Amino acid sequence: MAITLKGRSLLTWLDYSEEEIRYLLDFSKKVKEESKTGQISRRFEGKTLALLFEKRSTRTRCAFETAFGEEGGHPVFLSTADIQLGAKESLEDTARVLGRMFTAIQFRGFKQSTAETLAKYSGVPVYNGLTDQFHPTQVLADIMTLEESFGPAAGRKLCYVGDGRNNIARSLFIICAKLGVHFTVVTPAGLLPDKELVDKCSGLAAKSGAKIRIAENPGEAEGADAVYTDVWASMGEESKKEERKALLGPYQVNQALMDKTGRKDSIFLHCLPAVKGEEVSVEVIEGPQSRVWDQAENRKHTIKAIMLATLL
Ligand code: CP
Ligand code: NVA
Repeated sequence: MAITLKGRSLLTWLDYSEEEIRYLLDFSKKVKEESKTGQISRRFEGKTLALLFEKRSTRTRCAFETAFGEEGGHPVFLSTADIQLGAKESLEDTARVLGRMFTAIQFRGFKQSTAETLAKYSGVPVYNGLTDQFHPTQVLADIMTLEESFGPAAGRKLCYVGDGRNNIARSLFIICAKLGVHFTVVTPAGLLPDKELVDKCSGLAAKSGAKIRIAENPGEAEGADAVYTDVWASMGEESKKEERKALLGPYQVNQALMDKTGRKDSIFLHCLPAVKGEEVSVEVIEGPQSRVWDQAENRKHTIKAIMLATLL
């Protein structure tokens, strides 16, 4: 059956089937190929995109803005300094008004429920550009990057080392469980992913064949195709910086940790921004195993593919 995603929001990959995610991955590769060969057309001509940001962003904002703009669309950046987002007027009212003026909305902020309310009341596709809970557009680019090194993701082994309960770990968990990627989270006891998510993902993994592991010992990176890490304190958790340093110090991805994979061809991934010298050593992020710049570039291709698939 042909896959049709027109009109859909992307709030979390929990809402998408394995086939739909696979379709978006393959489409992202086509979009990247088109971009490399100069095949940019005007596919978003006459369309408008609201870019709502409660938190800072480099990659996500630039990916949405350039992907939409270069295809003839009109992106409008709106930070919380510019717009009422639950202040003065209700979120529901803002959503209804934006839905009358924009073809689609991107939201980056704190609560997942804000993204859900925007989708419910605007009536147009809403893309989650990161919340405290999920960062779905990021992990599509991550799987694309994994596939550029190793071919089809199913059956590959991805090992995430660091804060096991943040938006990146949680989103990787879901996409890996859906796609049959063996996923290990290496994290200290105080930062385990929540039981509800683990239970959901275990159910998904049972269907896809993904092997899921949660471990405290970085030695679990053995055999991994890719080692992935993220900042120790996410946006909004700045007050926890010192506590996290103490907890996650032994989990820094340095060469010794990369060597635990036992493979010379394993790759290093990071969503960025990175705090070099904390979650990753300079040697690793700047070294031959690092794919972080390809990963950042792939944000744009995957985001363009998501918008093309849901808007045209
Ligand atoms: N990886 C990522 O989302 O980067 P930004 O915070 O710069 O958008
Ligand atoms: N976990 C990080 C991801 C940044 C892209 C954060 O939320 O700050």
